[in-house]
Amino acid sequence: MLSYCVQAVSQKLPQLGKASIDKIISSMTLEEKAQLLVGGNHEFSINKVGKSVDLVSGAAGTTVSIPRFCIPFSVETDGPAGVRINPLRKGDTNTYYCTGFPVETLLSSTWNTDMVKRVGEAMGNEVLEYGCDVLLAPAMNLHRNPLCGRNFEYYSEDPLLAGKMAASMVNGVQSQGVGTSIKHFVANNQETFRTENSSDVSQRALREMYLKGFEIAVKEAHPWTVMSSYNKLNGVYTQEDYPLLTTLLRDEWGYKGIVMTDWTDTRNTVAQIHAGDDLLMPGNKEQVNAIISAVKDDKLSMSDVDRNVRNMLEFLMKTPRFRHYEYTNKPDLKAHANVAREAADEGIVLLKNDDNALPLKEGENDIALFGRDSYYLLAGGLGSGDVNKAYVVNLKNGLKNAGFGLQAKVDSIYEKNIKLKKEIDVDPAFIQLRAKDSKVAIISFGRNSSEGSDRYAGAGDFELTSTERDMLTNVVNAFHAEHKKVIVVLNVCGVVETASWKDLPDAIVLAWQPGQEGGNAIADILKGTVNPSGKLPMTFPINYMDIPSSKNFPYDYKGEKFDAQKKDIGYTKYDEGIWVGYRYFNTFDKKVSYPFGYGLSYTTFSYDYSMIKETKNGYEVYVKITNTGKVAGKEVAELYISAPKSDIDKPACELKAFAKTKLLQPEESEVLTLKFAATDLASFHENSNCWVADAGVYKVLIGSSVSDIRQTLSFKLKNPIEKKVKAKL
Ligand code: BGC
Repeated sequence: MLSYCVQAVSQKLPQLGKASIDKIISSMTLEEKAQLLVGGNHEFSINKVGKSVDLVSGAAGTTVSIPRFCIPFSVETDGPAGVRINPLRKGDTNTYYCTGFPVETLLSSTWNTDMVKRVGEAMGNEVLEYGCDVLLAPAMNLHRNPLCGRNFEYYSEDPLLAGKMAASMVNGVQSQGVGTSIKHFVANNQETFRTENSSDVSQRALREMYLKGFEIAVKEAHPWTVMSSYNKLNGVYTQEDYPLLTTLLRDEWGYKGIVMTDWTDTRNTVAQIHAGDDLLMPGNKEQVNAIISAVKDDKLSMSDVDRNVRNMLEFLMKTPRFRHYEYTNKPDLKAHANVAREAADEGIVLLKNDDNALPLKEGENDIALFGRDSYYLLAGGLGSGDVNKAYVVNLKNGLKNAGFGLQAKVDSIYEKNIKLKKEIDVDPAFIQLRAKDSKVAIISFGRNSSEGSDRYAGAGDFELTSTERDMLTNVVNAFHAEHKKVIVVLNVCGVVETASWKDLPDAIVLAWQPGQEGGNAIADILKGTVNPSGKLPMTFPINYMDIPSSKNFPYDYKGEKFDAQKKDIGYTKYDEGIWVGYRYFNTFDKKVSYPFGYGLSYTTFSYDYSMIKETKNGYEVYVKITNTGKVAGKEVAELYISAPKSDIDKPACELKAFAKTKLLQPEESEVLTLKFAATDLASFHENSNCWVADAGVYKVLIGSSVSDIRQTLSFKLKNPIEKKVKAKL
């Protein structure tokens, strides 16, 4: 019998799972209820009843157990690129490494929901086998601005893509019998003063952009938990926002799980409990006491407390700890590494490939491998999303594993200097010699970022440094003079400036932060073992200032003090409304460096015979994709809708569905089915607090990117659709 059950059994008290939840609630003291609603980051659960084996070292938090009723504790651990726990434990020779999967931005670049689900299954299995109950992932805030320091943990600038990816991840993880926490709810789109800043967003932009992905994930995947964010929304902390956490999330969307707070203890406890945070994380004693005294002083109703306790009990009954699951601490890390590699293979995006520079040809074997990041792969980003993985395959080793040879002198310069952790300035004369004695040059440029701070727009982050530019120019000049190719690999956490230098190299491979198997995956693409099929989940602008939100986003605010009245520090106005990403660039015909949905392949595809069929609740579009090139490959078909004129502004088009083919051999075809509901056509009208799909003719654009439309259809919506909602946020 587990320790947390002993008391309930010996004292013949109602036991969770045997007695009804009503019975347990009515038997609990106020103190016990308060304890259950506050995380166990203090003396409760583990010290009192957890066996040492239950302490999952390095997990982000726990909930408390109440042994009198057989209520177990639970363990919450970070994601979203893998499980984050300590790999080593005191006095224990075993290791507890977890798989470092590619970051979410790479996963969404796969546009492959099955692939993302498989990653979720593998990750969920590690949650289970390492004795945890909930993975604090997926993170799914929108890429409002490319400089958000956590974008690598997020999926996309488009809410449909983000929502579908998150739903697949949740379904994958939860198929293992453990929970997820979709986060950070909501509009947590900057890291500068993230715990105090207010995101000031219109009702329309909120509904159509910032909430939409969460709505899809809640409705399609039923995450066990939702994490309320650090920031304020229109002046109110999301954690104290009843209309957000209850009216919208529960009443409108039908959410049934728990809401847990992001890791802070500086909010008004009573307001949090009333608003609908069922679990205050990581938890402290003052919060427990605050709940107890507020109920006694009639400042918090017992029915609010009981409502949250019920949610907590229902949640806990789903956990592996409640079912007494005997975890092994031995997940199949080898099998999961293969999943990580496959996912990376599918999410790497080929941005440029002049004259079929890639894949590398037979004989292009002596590679001059430049750039520190070729020797020190950035597998993932920093902060709570950083996984403690057993190893990282860098590009150098990935190339070696794939059978390539490296030019020894270049290799030795980097290996000697790598420890210095600085940019390595390579002498142009040296580069010229290497252009003669090697066959091809590969240069990696890396960028990393972290929770807690945003990126900056200038050199060294969004832009290349002058050292990087000089190296690129020198390598390109020297190698092109010898009729040899130069390939750039971008090992980056997010969007970088490309327009000013992209003409120089022959090919550009966007590898993102590809996880522990990254070097092998990049080599798969360079060699052609894998044909690239990733596509951009966001737009690459020409200049940072081209992005509408750049006018209202922290711009190098390092060292400033918090000031509630100060623009972009105290509050951030989302003045651009719905004009985020391609919705802006495409509608206003602004040039970009690479458009949303873009990515090259080593083969070509034709799009034919598209047709549309009306179904009970919406539409099905069929399109025949044929591989018209010489090598096998996969294609992503993207379906955009262009709505008829309305009395509110409409984007030129919006993504409403997408699908990816299987691996198609040359000349092979597949008919893809792309589905959307009639209600997906609606925009949000603020004045009437109503979703409205206007009657009229809608164009269906099916293409290979937002600016490469291959087939156009249309259909008529005879009657308008209107759906009023309650919450005002
Ligand atoms: C982050 C969350 C994370 C939590 C627990 C917070 O600082 O914002 O994403 O899950 O810490 O580590």
